[in-house]
Amino acid sequence: MEIKTDIYLGDSKEQLKLLPDNLVDLIVTSPPYADQRKNTYGGIHPDEYVKWFLPISEQLLRVLKPTQT
Ligand SMILES: C[S@@+](CC[C@H](N)C(=O)[O-])C[C@H]1O[C@@H](n2cnc3c(N)ncnc32)[C@H](O)[C@@H]1O
Repeated sequence: MEIKTDIYLGDSKEQLKLLPDNLVDLIVTSPPYADQRKNTYGGIHPDEYVKWFLPISEQLLRVLKPTQT
């Protein structure tokens, strides 16, 4: 099995658009904790969090293989 590693730096919503559909087997992510660690990581207000994360999650789902393998 060939293992390929590429590193993309930038806004995940935009960087994910560079990838084709159904490319990856596993996604591990650690998104911001709304405003819980604002001084460390910046923050997204809880009222805005879903609106902020939905476009990213759409891209995550698009690139994820549906096979569960
Ligand atoms: C909770 S922290 C991750 C902490 C990290 N897992 C660690 O162990 O230090 C959230 C990170 O997401 C980054 N981030 C926020 N919005 C982003 C986006 N749209 N695309 C990529 N990274 C983003 C922040 O800069 C921050 O470093």
